Amino acid sequence: QASAEVDVSAIQPGQAIKTIFRKQPLFVRHLTPAEIAAADAVAVDSLRDPQTLEERTAAGKSQWLITMGVCTHLGCVPLGAAEGENRGEFGGYFCPCHGSHYDTAGRIRKGPAPLNLQVPEYTFTSDTVVQVG
Ligand code: FES
Repeated sequence: QASAEVDVSAIQPGQAIKTIFRKQPLFVRHLTPAEIAAADAVAVDSLRDPQTLEERTAAGKSQWLITMGVCTHLGCVPLGAAEGENRGEFGGYFCPCHGSHYDTAGRIRKGPAPLNLQVPEYTFTSDTVVQVG
């Protein structure tokens, strides 16, 4: 299976993009300091799928949230990667199919989805290029 290279240099803090990886939507999001702080303020034990932001991001690069854009309920594409889209009650992503809300770490917080948005394998090959897969 092919890997994908994503140039993240144009993604400003607070912005996200939707691209394609292995024929599925992939979200790449540049978190603001406030969004990182919001994710870190959550009691991990209270989460349905307990993971920290640090566990879901590359070492030293917790501002880059890279996840599949596939709701873990029944596979719809959540909103929130494009400008002006509904990011849900927790400021991350919102799946309109049955109302799943994900937070700024892409973790499921409300609604029927059982798991956090999946984090694919990836590595930064430079400060601005990510190789996914
Ligand atoms: Fe996303 Fe059902 S597919 S909430």
